[in-house]
Amino acid sequence: MGELRFVVTAGPTREYLDPVRFLSNPSTGRMGFAVARAARAAGHEVTLIAGPVALRTPRDVRRVDVVSAREMLHAVRQALSGDNAPVALVMTAAVADWRPAHRAMRKLKKSQMSGTLRLVRNPDILKSLGRRLRGDVRIGFAAETDAPTAEAVRKCREKGLDMVVANDVLQPGSGFGTTTNRVAFAFPDGHIEQFPLMSKDAVARRIVRVARQMAEREA
Ligand code: PMT
Repeated sequence: MGELRFVVTAGPTREYLDPVRFLSNPSTGRMGFAVARAARAAGHEVTLIAGPVALRTPRDVRRVDVVSAREMLHAVRQALSGDNAPVALVMTAAVADWRPAHRAMRKLKKSQMSGTLRLVRNPDILKSLGRRLRGDVRIGFAAETDAPTAEAVRKCREKGLDMVVANDVLQPGSGFGTTTNRVAFAFPDGHIEQFPLMSKDAVARRIVRVARQMAEREA
């Protein structure tokens, strides 16, 4: 197997309706930055694609900052192209599924707003990615509030992934903004591996280890 490169997405996306208002979510980027640090510490080349977050770039990691889902899609495509080394793509980003149908260039006055916002679907980044090379690995995340593992297996199959990391964002110490996470790894064959609450750094090290094992098996 050639050297495995990691491409990691982190944080939220923002979908602006005018220069001062946007749709987004509470992701801080902590989970994704932990994966980038763990992959780098394991000796991999890492590209970290970050939505708007207030975190310091991990040492020796190439960082690409983006704002919207469409910018993130473009950055992921760019990062996956290039040399022929196999890539482990780890999508921890909480990508907005919808964006306002129109973006005003100037601040909308209250009198111009009707109280109804028309939305259009954003592209699904994971679903829209093309062909894989031998040894490529694709890992998604699922932020859920109901039956997280069943939903994670469904998403794993639907998006053609090797694994989905499910986190129940209603559990204390888990999900958005925390330094810890309670996760389960879900695989397309329905197999689930459940973990206790641990630091996001420890979760990240496990993800990197599994990604390496998968890449070696597929090569
Ligand atoms: O950043 P933190 O504060 O540390 O919080 C971490 C987290 C809670 C954001 C993270 O652990 C997490 O769960 N991330 C995924 C959240 C999410 O958007 O889940 P989803 O079920 O909507 O999406 C499933 C997968 O598809 C994700 O890998 C997502 O990156 C991807 N996706 C989603 C929408 C879209 N348009 N394109 C995508 O590729």
